[in-house]
Amino acid sequence: MKTPLQLLQKIFLEAALRAFPELSDFSEFSVEITQSTRENFGHYQFNSAMKLGKFLQLPPRAIAEKIKEQVVTESMIAGLEIAGPGFINITLSNAFISENCTRLLSDPRLGIEIPSKPQKIVIDFSSPNIAKELHVGHLRSTIIGDSLARLFEFLGNDVLRLNHIGDWGTSFGMLIAYLKEEEPEVLSGAKQTDLTQLVNWYRASKKRFDEDAEFKKRGQQEVSVLQAGDPKALHAWKIICDISAKAYREIYDLLGVSINDRGESFYNPMLSEVIEDFEKKGLISDSDGAKCVFLSGFTNREGEPLPMILQKSDLGFNYATTDMAAMKHRIFVEKADRIIILTDAGQSLHFQMIVEGAKQVGYLDPEKLRFDHVTFGLVLSPDGKKFKTRSGDTERLIDLLTTAVERAETILSERSLDIEKEERKTLARILGIGAVKYADLSCNRTGDYTFSYDRMLRFEGNTAAYLLYSYVRIEGIKRKSGVDVAKIKDGAPILPEHPAEIALALHLLRFGEALQEVAEHLTPNILTDYLYQLADKFNSFFRDCRVEGSLEQNSRVLLCEAVSKVMEKGLYILGMETVKRM
Ligand code: ARG
Repeated sequence: MKTPLQLLQKIFLEAALRAFPELSDFSEFSVEITQSTRENFGHYQFNSAMKLGKFLQLPPRAIAEKIKEQVVTESMIAGLEIAGPGFINITLSNAFISENCTRLLSDPRLGIEIPSKPQKIVIDFSSPNIAKELHVGHLRSTIIGDSLARLFEFLGNDVLRLNHIGDWGTSFGMLIAYLKEEEPEVLSGAKQTDLTQLVNWYRASKKRFDEDAEFKKRGQQEVSVLQAGDPKALHAWKIICDISAKAYREIYDLLGVSINDRGESFYNPMLSEVIEDFEKKGLISDSDGAKCVFLSGFTNREGEPLPMILQKSDLGFNYATTDMAAMKHRIFVEKADRIIILTDAGQSLHFQMIVEGAKQVGYLDPEKLRFDHVTFGLVLSPDGKKFKTRSGDTERLIDLLTTAVERAETILSERSLDIEKEERKTLARILGIGAVKYADLSCNRTGDYTFSYDRMLRFEGNTAAYLLYSYVRIEGIKRKSGVDVAKIKDGAPILPEHPAEIALALHLLRFGEALQEVAEHLTPNILTDYLYQLADKFNSFFRDCRVEGSLEQNSRVLLCEAVSKVMEKGLYILGMETVKRM
């Protein structure tokens, strides 16, 4: 099922070409239709007449007039009106809204078409570093990445979710050397431990590495042994990775995020080939024994050319080398049509260089593959500083999430008295985790984001609690009406009459438009805004239109059902579960 916007674009394109056949020679010609900014202007507006004035040598209003005459309104459009300098305001017919809303309800995909050619989309997100805790930056990457993955899956694509864990590098040498000396039972598997301890040992090993020259040597030796593939060193490395991965898994489980671990080490066997590829193209310059690529347009603060170092003089490889190998693998082996990587904005330059390098070496053809580095701002405390715990340490993610769940439980116990303890625990998890996710997703990701338990757990405004509560209310209204939706559903029409009903039904038809916009701009806040408006429009409808016992009862209950289905799917795409009561 096409969205109203897609249908209108086609209708207006054809009308414009009928009115002015010469437009087919005008390369800049495109049809721009947007949702109306004000309800009394109609539902959509055609904005292109103003841009055509110069080419057609006519006043925009006259152009709009001629195009309007050519629009075959069929049953979709109830009214067209020229306004201002040359807009055409478009009002959809009730029959169209009714028919499409009815179809949406009977379609498990809620009217969203499956693409004729699904894309293979690689999404690289979360991606913490071994022997370190996940931090709030990784939380943003995880939440936004998971939501984009869910969106593209729902839109009918083949999505590969990858956790590009930082599991390779020189730091493991010193950690292995340290554990060998201080905690040999950990490496033999005799002693169980956890990530928190591992992080402490990591810090201690770093300190010793910086202070003790002998230890430094041993650490460096461990690196070469490890990179040479020594089984004992690999075993130690594997133990360190497993301890970390277990802690990450706990967080992903709590968040309900599924992701495939494919760390940097996976690309290790491919790194020398990457160097060869660059060498063959003559892109490598030697700089004090290091293999560098100089890409035009990249300079440091002093204005000197900035190299991308693919191999260091000690023959070690870099973060960039691995990302280049990942690019190659994802393009040629995974056959990606689109690659999306999520990290904080601090890595923008790195990925700009990766993209430019990948183009030059012949991995990436921008005509065939779309690459997006999806960035986001910092997480701040309500006091505007970088997010930290009271003790001053960076907050452990797991603690942050459990706190959100605990706070949700307190709020729930203050609100509703008749919920059993077990059910309350489930509700608290759904609300607490949902609140953390929604608060993050609902702000424009490019800005910094202020983390506040109090704000995210509010029941008023654009929050998870407000939407979950609206959902619960809709379910309650359906229940109270006594109408068995399953019985009347098949084919029974939704017939919106009242303006509040029409506005609500039309908003449902725009679900696909909101999803398309998120898919294009990779901005989940478009979807949170959409759902917030949906809840709002539902509330107006319920204020103005009686459901239970009214003449229109069946149609209105079905409308409630459609709202609840869209709300549920929308929240699902945001990574949120719904509840039946709250
Ligand atoms: N491990 C990196 C970090 O914590 C993020 C990796 C992102 N993905 C990538 N392909 N570089 O900053």
